[in-house]
Amino acid sequence: MNKDDIFQLFGRHVSSGKVQFFREAGLDFIFGRREGVRIYDIDGSRELYDCHCNGGVFNLGHRHPELVEALRQALERYDIGNHHFVSEQRARLAAQLTGLAPGDLQYAIFASGGGEAIDTAIKIARGATGRRQIISAKGGYHGHTGYALAAGDAKFRDPFLAASPDFTQVPFNDPEAIEAALSAETAAVIMETIPATIGMLQPDEGYFRAVRELCTRNGTLLIIDEVQSGLGRTGTLWAIEQFDCEPDIMVTAKGLSGGLYPIAATLISAELEKLFHRDPFVHISTFGGAELGCVVASKVLEISASADFLAQVQQLSVFFSSGLEKIRLAASPHLQEIRQRGLMTGLKFAHPDLGPAMARACFEAGLLCVFSGNDTSVLQFLPPLIISEEEAAEILQRLGNAIALAQDMLS
Ligand SMILES: Cc1ncc(COP(=O)(O)O)c(C=O)c1O
Repeated sequence: MNKDDIFQLFGRHVSSGKVQFFREAGLDFIFGRREGVRIYDIDGSRELYDCHCNGGVFNLGHRHPELVEALRQALERYDIGNHHFVSEQRARLAAQLTGLAPGDLQYAIFASGGGEAIDTAIKIARGATGRRQIISAKGGYHGHTGYALAAGDAKFRDPFLAASPDFTQVPFNDPEAIEAALSAETAAVIMETIPATIGMLQPDEGYFRAVRELCTRNGTLLIIDEVQSGLGRTGTLWAIEQFDCEPDIMVTAKGLSGGLYPIAATLISAELEKLFHRDPFVHISTFGGAELGCVVASKVLEISASADFLAQVQQLSVFFSSGLEKIRLAASPHLQEIRQRGLMTGLKFAHPDLGPAMARACFEAGLLCVFSGNDTSVLQFLPPLIISEEEAAEILQRLGNAIALAQDMLS
């Protein structure tokens, strides 16, 4: 099929609005070949470095050979399995995941995507505390499903009448706002460690320690959403490890799939698992913890948790940090701030139109990047964690070119 035909078919049967949007934005890219850190247009006309990585799905690049091989071998023997029954693959992955998790998280409840895993976290918090209220960060994002949607931004909730008086939002980095919002009815506070959709905000020193203390004092559970920030993205396996804070519940998704087989998990303590003693079938998910996905996720963890891999991410982080600072100085005052932890980075521009202009300019310069949906002055910059320093240098050069191009576009 040629590109035009695909656009038309997609517009007729998947989303007319998206086709219109991408055509008008001049982003007529259709994913074709994809390999490691690069993606190619279906007609071969364009090659991009993937610096979006679907928010972390492609932390290990596209079609990582070890992951492809693990899936290939699993396909010789398994399918998704039966979600009601005991499973060796689920048991092994849960032990591996919880062994690598902070604090005393001992059980993993599997889902097929991040939103579902967040819903599970909120269900458990409500079930365990007998309370209804959930506090989350304004402008944060936890998914498009039920409770995840209710905990997120009004922009996504309101068209579907999904707002709920039981869900309260407070500004990020403001412990006093959490303290004021907490009540005897608060089941959980849910936070992304680094909120991506509101512009890669960096937690202030002591913020998560304060949130932890407030929750403990109030008998409220702390849910940490590591869907984007987890699995090595920030230089440690979990970003929350860097903030002296142990969550009661932690959610991982996106990168856990290796981009090959959807899987997500909600990690809880043995104490919280007691909630299921009376009826262990009270929460189920047909595709959650599919055995094929478990095999891929296990390999993802083996790679991502290794000391060598994390040291390499930290080294790349230093490399990017100095390169990005040079770019910031050259692009001042348009580029105001680099928000970076490991390879989780937001470029904060002075003008709210610069995020979208930069996404477009990056495309022209050979990079796939998107802007933060809830703060369009921020360009999200998420290179794969497996890039070499030579590739990183080329990416920085393309980014510098894109900034010049975006400024031209706006002027
Ligand atoms: C921080 C965060 N939490 C949860 C989700 C929801 O994950 P999914 O799209 O797999 O449902 C996302 C998705 O972008 C996310 O960025």
